[in-house]
Amino acid sequence: VPLSVLRPPRLIGRDAEWAALQRAWDEHEPALVLGEAGMGKTRLLSDFARSRAQAAIVPARPGDERVVYALIARLLRLIAAERLAVLDAGIRNELARLLPELGEAAPIRSDAERARFFNAVAAALQAQQPRVAGVIVDDLHFADDASVELIQYLEGTGCQRWVFAGRPAELGAAARALTDAVRDRGQLIDLRPLDEAQIARLVESLALPDIDAAAMAPLLARHTGGNPLFVLESLKGWLTQGGQATDARLPAVRHVGALIERRIGRLSSAAVRLARCAAVAGQDFSAELAARVLSVQPLDLADAWGELEAAQVFRDGAFAHDLIADAARASVPAAIARELHGQIARLLADRDAAPARLAEHWLAAGRHRQALDALMRAAAEAHHQALRLAEAAQLYEGAVAVAEQLGDREAAFDALHALLETLIALDRDRVDEALIDRLDAQAATPRRQAQALSLRGHVLLHRGRYAQAIPVSQRAADLARAAGDEELAAASLSDAAAAASQVGDADRAVRLLRPLLPWALEHASDDTRINLLGHLGLSLDNIDHQAEAQSVHQRAIEAATHARRFDEAVSAAGNLAISLLDVGRPRAALDAIAQARRLGAAYDELHGHSFSLNLFEGVAAMMLRRYRTALATLEIALADVAHNALAAAALSVHRACLWLHLGQTARAQRELGMIDSQAAVPAWLDARRQQMLGRCAWALERRADAARHWDAAASSAPMNERTVLAAMIALDRALVQPAAVSVAEIQAVLAKAERLGHFGSMLAARVRLAGLACQHGDIDTAQRVCAELAQTPDDIEPNDLYGGERWLASARVLHAAGRRDEVARGLAAAAATIRRIARDEVPPEFRDSYLDRNPVNRELLALASRLA
Ligand SMILES: Nc1ncnc2c1ncn2[C@@H]1O[C@H](COP(=O)(O)OP(=O)(O)O)[C@@H](O)[C@H]1O
Ligand SMILES: [Mg+2]
Repeated sequence: VPLSVLRPPRLIGRDAEWAALQRAWDEHEPALVLGEAGMGKTRLLSDFARSRAQAAIVPARPGDERVVYALIARLLRLIAAERLAVLDAGIRNELARLLPELGEAAPIRSDAERARFFNAVAAALQAQQPRVAGVIVDDLHFADDASVELIQYLEGTGCQRWVFAGRPAELGAAARALTDAVRDRGQLIDLRPLDEAQIARLVESLALPDIDAAAMAPLLARHTGGNPLFVLESLKGWLTQGGQATDARLPAVRHVGALIERRIGRLSSAAVRLARCAAVAGQDFSAELAARVLSVQPLDLADAWGELEAAQVFRDGAFAHDLIADAARASVPAAIARELHGQIARLLADRDAAPARLAEHWLAAGRHRQALDALMRAAAEAHHQALRLAEAAQLYEGAVAVAEQLGDREAAFDALHALLETLIALDRDRVDEALIDRLDAQAATPRRQAQALSLRGHVLLHRGRYAQAIPVSQRAADLARAAGDEELAAASLSDAAAAASQVGDADRAVRLLRPLLPWALEHASDDTRINLLGHLGLSLDNIDHQAEAQSVHQRAIEAATHARRFDEAVSAAGNLAISLLDVGRPRAALDAIAQARRLGAAYDELHGHSFSLNLFEGVAAMMLRRYRTALATLEIALADVAHNALAAAALSVHRACLWLHLGQTARAQRELGMIDSQAAVPAWLDARRQQMLGRCAWALERRADAARHWDAAASSAPMNERTVLAAMIALDRALVQPAAVSVAEIQAVLAKAERLGHFGSMLAARVRLAGLACQHGDIDTAQRVCAELAQTPDDIEPNDLYGGERWLASARVLHAAGRRDEVARGLAAAAATIRRIARDEVPPEFRDSYLDRNPVNRELLALASRLA
């Protein structure tokens, strides 16, 4: 067969396509070449690459799809070793995941770590010399999803030009996402079949003796549909038969595979053997491997190799085309293929090949035991090394099937368990109970039964079936403990406690978790310890054990920081802040928030937490009367509440409280009006809203309305957990109740707050009690309470009560007791403080309202000027 038929000397047609490629290249836009097999994608791109300096071509290959980052590894192999050697050590460490010669690789455990890895690959490409101006990715349809996602990221950085080629019908999900993006921003080049005139020019360009191109073109067009590869294959078939150019003699190219098989069949037996070896080895083929498999010296392959190239079966050390590879594979008898796969797998195993590749050969060799082992290793690598959960799940699924086929219950259990854990991490909704039933059926030991039951409880919990989850997880914990697996017992109890909290039984959650603490601090894995501390801390807060909760939050921060789980450390610090706010310690809360921000900023883990941190900081600033800061911080929090009705409502009630402190009653009402009344808000939030509505009415001197709102607030405030809110509502209600009732209620609030260590509520209760006792003429009580007030530690603030009320209450009591000098001095100091706050901490537009329409300030200032 003349050489021209292997690779036609000229590129026929494709002028428009070439121009489009050129345009994309010049404009730094991505380009996408789509066309069926044989349509000329590789030809167009390789001609184009040759015309452009610094274009690198990297092809995906059949079999890549099971090897995570296979294509990227191939791309990095294009970079010379000495360029890699001079890269920053940090970047080399990242690249070691794909290039083992660079050293030990750490697994990817989070999206942030994945981002660092992506950036290292980008940096490596940048470091290439001569610089790569563009990367051409051929046969995208064979690429693994992990590589495609990384390439999409690299493409987005705009450092290189990118050109992609593939068969449109065979693109996977990730590749389709990539091509959709390219379609929008770059050049889409759809390779059409050659028309009759182009076919004529193609045949003519081959300069075959005795061929009338013009006469043959219509025949070829009809037979091949204009696919260049089919045209060339038809010609080859026709030439090897030495036939005439007549309709009847043209081989039917619809069976292009059979055509090629026939061509291979005509070769020498050595060449056929080499072709078969290459077909079976697939992307693992190399001269060295062929020599080992065929038990010859590499040099002895030269003749057969040359023969395959001459026959246009091979090109550049591999099959000239995938269709040829397919045909060669089809020509290998099944029994021989099995044997060859086994040999190849053994050779590859000696060379630490990717386990997913090994698995494929072992499976094809019918060696299930080895395939199972390779699949499990491949899955574990995908999961732990690369955090590619979808690929890992697929590999585990393969392993389950093989293990079940082998009838190996133990292996099937392990594979199913790993599969379930991967699915839970990937997307809990994909876990169905049938899978857990299968796991259960394979559980042959008590420990495995515990594992299966524990997973069942876990899934029930995350399905929201809490009542069912609690006993299942508790039983799993009992079984685990009996089997000596404390870690599993702890994880199960954690789930049971989480389910208990969800049904409002924080008490039970604490009872389940608290006994685990000593063990967890000493022996638990990082994950279990962090999870347990986090959970216990929140549950303790929920049952109003804030002091204990705070020490647990503190330990959670330490454990998470130690394990470098900074996202968890940030949420633990946030939990600590809210617990401190609950007991009236805003300065300490601000410290915790600052700590959370430091941890989050240093490790790029703030995103998920910015709303709550801003909200807590705003509340703390308000308690400290730093209104300017509070306004600004809550304004920033506003940016994060879009589409989250609950967050928006929580923010609104706090802002309403802030507006009331500033004397902006109308704004407070508007803020509360913005709460979506359709949204299903939890009871505590509804109570808070009613409480603030009551305060608005109170500020407008509409006593009856205030009473109505506060009654409503009291009836929806939770009474058993997080009782600070109920306490504060009771204090508001006392303002509108008959004297005897109100004093008794406040005393009850005070007693409870003292018992629970709720310093902020204690302070607020005393302020109200002093004021009311004085108003009712009970000067003794008023004076006693005032004395207690004076004992309050400096860092305590009255939860969401306006702090100035404390000064007003003291002044009234002193006044009633006739201690005139002290009153005058106290009032002068309070007035000065209020004026300073107005000047330094209140934005100018709210100064007047803060001084005149905040009722406490108005009264204080009036008294001060009267007594001055
Ligand atoms: N426009 C063209 N002009 C000349 N030869 C072509 C043309 N398009 C494809 N070919 C030849 O057809 C064969 C198949 O093309 P190839 O680029 O491998 O197809 P694909 O990559 O789309 O599967 C190759 O031998 C190639 O040189
Ligand atoms: Mg191709």
